[in-house]
Amino acid sequence: MLIQDSSLPDDSRRADDLMPVKPASGRGRSHGTSRKEAFDRWFRYPAGFASDYVSTLLETLDLDPGSLIIDPFAGSGVTGTAARSAGHSFYGIETHPLIAELANLKLQTPPGSPESLIETASSLAKTAERMAPSAGDALKKEADLTQRCFQPAVLARLVSLRDIIRAGHAGHWGPYVKWALLGTLRDVASVRVGWPYQRPGSQRQPRFTDPLERFIQRAMWMAEDLQQGVIIRSDISASVTHGDSRDPETWKGAIGAQGCVASPPYLNNFDYADATRLELYFWGDVTSWADMCSTVRSGMITATTQQTSVGAAREASSRLARFANAGATVQELTAQLQAERDKRNRGKEYDRVIPDYFAAMAQILENLAKSMTSGAPFVWLVGDSAPYGVYIDTPGLIGQIGEQVGFSMEKDIVLRRRGQRWASNQTRHDVELSERLILLRRQ
Ligand SMILES: C[S@@+](CC[C@H](N)C(=O)[O-])C[C@H]1O[C@@H](n2cnc3c(N)ncnc32)[C@H](O)[C@@H]1O
Repeated sequence: MLIQDSSLPDDSRRADDLMPVKPASGRGRSHGTSRKEAFDRWFRYPAGFASDYVSTLLETLDLDPGSLIIDPFAGSGVTGTAARSAGHSFYGIETHPLIAELANLKLQTPPGSPESLIETASSLAKTAERMAPSAGDALKKEADLTQRCFQPAVLARLVSLRDIIRAGHAGHWGPYVKWALLGTLRDVASVRVGWPYQRPGSQRQPRFTDPLERFIQRAMWMAEDLQQGVIIRSDISASVTHGDSRDPETWKGAIGAQGCVASPPYLNNFDYADATRLELYFWGDVTSWADMCSTVRSGMITATTQQTSVGAAREASSRLARFANAGATVQELTAQLQAERDKRNRGKEYDRVIPDYFAAMAQILENLAKSMTSGAPFVWLVGDSAPYGVYIDTPGLIGQIGEQVGFSMEKDIVLRRRGQRWASNQTRHDVELSERLILLRRQ
């Protein structure tokens, strides 16, 4: 049975000609940054949008040219690059420091000619080959995860390149070649580094054997995309702020927004910090799990049981109390989840996740309402979930909260079913899940 929000009239729950259900690429996907498309190919962020889908969505919203589009969960900046291509301005907020940096890089004006990026990358690769440390003591200083992911000769070249870039030898192209290198890591790893977990204990054949060649290839893609895809117009601005979209201070650049296309973290779904562990450890942004929590996780909304605390859940519940219907539903679900946890030995604290998650959504929706102009549409892609088999209608609850802070709910469309990957797992619930697209409008 596919569960839907029954509070909406029938025709608003169906896909219709107003909202594109199928991405233009025909792959049937709304998410999953492409390995091939311009800008997306800089780094594959699986939580990211499929850019052709965002372009189609933006077209469907029928916005005035030069509108300001916002995304409070900007990720790798796919809404940003799609908005810019359509001639709109863009302002995004992203809390993951590394991913925010990537998004900004795609959106900013390049510091020189794209040809000079390729020259810089080639010259760095030559120096890296010359200076690569012989496998041995030098590599033992690397994080354990880094050491286990690569063959020693490959790691020696990666480390050599990294150290040259970190020392400033790439000049103003530094951040770009850094990403050409970070994008190379998973290509040349000799263990399974798929998403969301990196599994250094599980060997695989590397997809590419020469890290320096692959690095240059990646720099060439970047140069090509910068050449063709960056529209420099004084009336268009595009940027991503590194920050927490619960914090009203981060929304300053969003005032007067005329549209929003975004996808928030799904409840109980994906640990964005852990998923990027390889890149964070390799570059040296984090050196321990505690570091990871303080530098990457701290600004993220609670969406998994690893992020919870009793105090935060209690405080969130009291903040939600003023949202009459949604607040009561969250309270009921919390009680059901607590009862499920009590039945189990060392059960998971889903009952602490949901108040915190929806209180965060309420705060972000309030910030959104303050920023958007009257009549402006916002479209979010979000999935529902069923921890311990307790169904949580996340899109429906977000819609209800939205209606209480100044939006009207216009559409709630099922895009696709999800969760079938675990269908054969007897211990998992059999509640059918879906990904939905909700359209709300500022009153
Ligand atoms: C589903 S992903 C969105 C990806 C994005 N649409 C793209 O194309 O790359 C959700 C994003 O929200 C970010 N996020 C989580 N909590 C946040 C917060 N409090 N403020 C801003 N961003 C947050 C995560 O780091 C993640 O990148």
